[in-house]
Amino acid sequence: MLMHIPDVLSKAQVAGMRLALDGAEWTDGRQTVGPQGAMVKRNLQLPEASALRRELGDIVVAALARHPAYHAAVLPLRTLSPRFNRYEGGGEYGFHIDGAVMAGGETDAYIRSDVSCTLFLSEPEEYDGGELIVSDTYGEHEVKLPAGDAIIYPSSSLHRVTAVTRGARIASFFWVQSMVRDDGARRLLLEMDTAIRNLSASGADQASILQLTGVYHNLLRRWAET
Ligand code: NI
Repeated sequence: MLMHIPDVLSKAQVAGMRLALDGAEWTDGRQTVGPQGAMVKRNLQLPEASALRRELGDIVVAALARHPAYHAAVLPLRTLSPRFNRYEGGGEYGFHIDGAVMAGGETDAYIRSDVSCTLFLSEPEEYDGGELIVSDTYGEHEVKLPAGDAIIYPSSSLHRVTAVTRGARIASFFWVQSMVRDDGARRLLLEMDTAIRNLSASGADQASILQLTGVYHNLLRRWAET
């Protein structure tokens, strides 16, 4: 499931991050991928040990934790500390699949990547190219969002970032292990959650809403791993 999460960060928060990132030291993005990724990855990243990376990453995670649509769609269990990347001067990242298991979560435990997230920190008009292309069974989807907005997509999908031919594309990206591993099950839960909210807002029969809410939680109980 590909989903646009609007307004994760305010424009003021984005401006603050951009100011900090403009003065940051960047390193070759190939340091954090395996040999397959290294063949197709051409970008810059904040170093893993960077204090700024940790500081800004905490802001991203806190903002997402407050976002009801994000929580309903992802059902996050563990989140890898966000990274920050920069594409410019023809930089791109060819088709690849993200690693299934990664280290470096809050407790340095391994996490399984179920959901990939990209949070855009450059406005679309600041750069040419730099589209995130996600390939799934419905075809290829092209994503380029306003600064402060995020896209989530299944970590199991092939994806790439097209070459940035003008300006710079700055973004934060990270992976989440969901309480519900299966993308299709997460989607069903999100649809039921959305329908229950809409029924509540429309003043529908309370006993029926309660029954549906019970079904939601009992499905989550059946599928959740914690
Ligand atoms: Ni990737």
